[in-house]
Amino acid sequence: MSNTNTNNLPTPLRWLVTLGPTHEPIDQVRFIGNRSSGRMGLEIAKAAKANGAHVRILAGPCSLPEIDSWTDVARFQTAADLRGLLTEAWSNFDVLIMAAAVADWRVVGAAHVGKIRRDATPPTLQLEPVAEILGNVRSRDNQFVVGFALEPKDEVIASARRKLVAKKADCIVANSLQTLDCINSDAQIVWPDGHVISLDAFGGIAAKSAVAKWIVAAISPAIAQKCRNR
Ligand code: CTP
Repeated sequence: MSNTNTNNLPTPLRWLVTLGPTHEPIDQVRFIGNRSSGRMGLEIAKAAKANGAHVRILAGPCSLPEIDSWTDVARFQTAADLRGLLTEAWSNFDVLIMAAAVADWRVVGAAHVGKIRRDATPPTLQLEPVAEILGNVRSRDNQFVVGFALEPKDEVIASARRKLVAKKADCIVANSLQTLDCINSDAQIVWPDGHVISLDAFGGIAAKSAVAKWIVAAISPAIAQKCRNR
């Protein structure tokens, strides 16, 4: 078996966790960003590590002190940075937790050098779409991919089902918009066979730390199955 080391001990599963927002620059001062705190990704990273996994965090611009002291961490600012880090690292990992909140648009062309002054004519920003990252990631059959979806409550499951296919993920963790930047989460997990699991034991919503442990426990059997021949 390849998933043992030279002492014949099982090597830990390697998890790659992306988290936080991206910042797409307008000038050297301003950016297009979003309200993602990175908290859910960090809690999942902690839960996976507590289960014995090796966990690398790819973190966007968010201010969670625990990220700075994480042993294996790299930082990104833009979606392009994240794509580069992910593309370079992914083949060395077993599990991808794509919790990063990637910007949908960025300013066309290079960012303005310096600062656009307030007394200048208000700028008209020409935007272009940010290319899809997760849906274009190349994965092996023995790698496990978790995508996320942030949606209005009444659309969350239908949209997560669409994203499951579009993003080629093994499951989607779907959250309602109301829990953005909160300490709580109402996550549900949508699986390819159509079934959905919810936080019933917690009354539908719980602290992100508890939800992260629930997510890691819920996906671990499928990970063990898919990554058994790593
Ligand atoms: N994602 C990605 N690349 C993008 C945008 C999103 O890889 N350019 C990933 C996110 O990290 C997340 C999943 O796709 O795991 C869903 O992100 P979300 O923002 O909910 O959806 P979008 O694809 O941006 O679609 P929409 O804005 O229409 O909901």
